[in-house]
Amino acid sequence: MNGPAIFGWAGPLLLLSPATGLTAFIHTPQGHWMTVDETEIRLPAGWQTAIEQILANGGGRVLVLGAVDSGKSTFCRALMAAADRRACTYTLVDTDPGQKMVGPPATLSRSQPTTPDRLAAIAFVGTTSAAEALSGVRQGLPRLMKHHGQTTLTVINTSGLLSGRGRALKATVIDAARPQLIVVLGDDPALDAILQPHRRLPVLRLAASPHARRRGRNERRRARMAAFAEYFGEAAHAVTLPLKCARWQGDREPIPRQLVGLADQNGQDRALGVILERPDQSGVSLLAPECDISAIRLLRPGRLLLSESWEAMPIGID
Ligand SMILES: Nc1ncnc2c1ncn2[C@@H]1O[C@H](COP(=O)(O)OP(=O)(O)OP(=O)(O)O)[C@@H](O)[C@H]1O
Ligand SMILES: [Mg+2]
Repeated sequence: MNGPAIFGWAGPLLLLSPATGLTAFIHTPQGHWMTVDETEIRLPAGWQTAIEQILANGGGRVLVLGAVDSGKSTFCRALMAAADRRACTYTLVDTDPGQKMVGPPATLSRSQPTTPDRLAAIAFVGTTSAAEALSGVRQGLPRLMKHHGQTTLTVINTSGLLSGRGRALKATVIDAARPQLIVVLGDDPALDAILQPHRRLPVLRLAASPHARRRGRNERRRARMAAFAEYFGEAAHAVTLPLKCARWQGDREPIPRQLVGLADQNGQDRALGVILERPDQSGVSLLAPECDISAIRLLRPGRLLLSESWEAMPIGID
């Protein structure tokens, strides 16, 4: 084979070359093709067979567990790419509030079927730290899972926090996501403790990605800033929400630049907002992306302030 083989993908495109392996591309709204993470996915030994097995068995809800930088998000991408090649419908539920595959940080997110880079729904957890996200996950994930629709495959990505609070967090994620298969990447001993109460669930153990790059604090911080910038970026505008229409949850006054969740009458988060000014008689002024603001009934305070350059800083609310 001389050149790379190209597989069609409704949004993203995959490029397979004998020299470089598998590369995923995204077609941006501006009409450019961009590589996912600007890296190539090189499928580690065992991953390809596992992916083929998962799809041959009909997909279902597949939850991916592993330590930080073990290749979880990459495995999710490779699995969705393979589903796409087989014209199998799929959805991504991203339960990592920090390093998002889809949607803004401080949320759990669900992508539109077969379009992993397009947001279908969010659940606001108020923090980008997995260690702080337990109550938000407990509340938000069941709702996000309920509407996962009729897709053949639901890929559930997780954060890399495994021990300490990570154990309770993973128990909550597993309970809410009800996976039919857990894919475990690597052999971190904390994984055994997480899996122990779920002995009846099928588990597929694979090697962690040997090609995974360790990302430092700065790279992770920049990734979060970029994800917030993309979410609020050009689409966001200032709106005033009358406080007689929408209730502020909690006792503390909103703080300028505080990140908030904007929920409808069913408690479903429709969007995120950033408080611009302290509320007055006309209501609360905030920055929000395009959404049906008249449907907002509840403002949920986040535990973060977002700077104008989209850097998130924790505020001690608890
Ligand atoms: N098989 C691979 N081929 C090419 N690049 C890879 C591969 N596996 C991982 N990487 C790269 O290594 C980095 C870390 O991988 P990835 O994001 O998948 O890990 P993760 O377990 O999801 O990390 P986190 O715990 O932060 O969510 C990413 O930049 C990713 O593109
Ligand atoms: Mg990840």
